[in-house]
Amino acid sequence: CADRSGGNSVLLYAHRGASQDAPENTLAAFREALRQGADGIEFDVQLSRDGVPVVIHDAELGRTTRAKGFVNEWDWEDLARLDAGSWFSDSFRDERIPSLEDVLRWARMTELRLNVELKNESGRFDRTALGKVVDLLRKYDLVERTVVSSFDHTLLAVLAREFPELRRGVLCFARLYRPEAYVGALDADLHPFYLGVTKDLVSVLHARGRAVRPFPVNDGSTARAFAAMGVDAVITDRPGELRAALEGRV
Ligand code: G3P
Ligand code: MG
Repeated sequence: CADRSGGNSVLLYAHRGASQDAPENTLAAFREALRQGADGIEFDVQLSRDGVPVVIHDAELGRTTRAKGFVNEWDWEDLARLDAGSWFSDSFRDERIPSLEDVLRWARMTELRLNVELKNESGRFDRTALGKVVDLLRKYDLVERTVVSSFDHTLLAVLAREFPELRRGVLCFARLYRPEAYVGALDADLHPFYLGVTKDLVSVLHARGRAVRPFPVNDGSTARAFAAMGVDAVITDRPGELRAALEGRV
């Protein structure tokens, strides 16, 4: 079941890219994730005012750019000019907010798995907007290696109905009552906050063919504990460090 692809080791998805070492959700962070040996990248997608899917975490621009206001108040051509790197370090001042298409065009040339997280605080991801995301995944032939996750579970239900070929992940901080029934209703995997994950939870979900990919997992001993529980993947800011820990190199 799930996505351990026949190997024994837990897959490592770089959270917003290798966000410990490069500015989150930029191509620099995704390249760094590849360099560190990540199996996949997780990144956050919102819509610009003119409906372009863009890769950025916060609804507001202030933390990771020098601009003010909300992502969904800016058109893509203006977002694309913003400096999305120097907040992290001056050496990344040439980094820009990528569009989803920028990331997929690059990812297509790698073997990375993708975890596309849809941020829907503004409620703008209707069927048309979801269709744009799916069309881009199809255009770059990436559907097979992608899981689309969201804290907006209603959105996952729309995805299940309209685009069932796309794998889904339920993002969740809560400890779900009857998690196997909940994710089963959405025909999805579970992406739980790491503190709620137990061996029983993993077993119950695996018995139904559901993968478990906790977030965020940023130290080696926690990663080893999850590997022992049989989780399918972890989502981490530090893929290189976790790779070394899981391989017993540290
Ligand atoms: O997808 C896992 C994780 O990214 C969810 O939280 O806030 O980092 O997007 P956040
Ligand atoms: Mg995320």
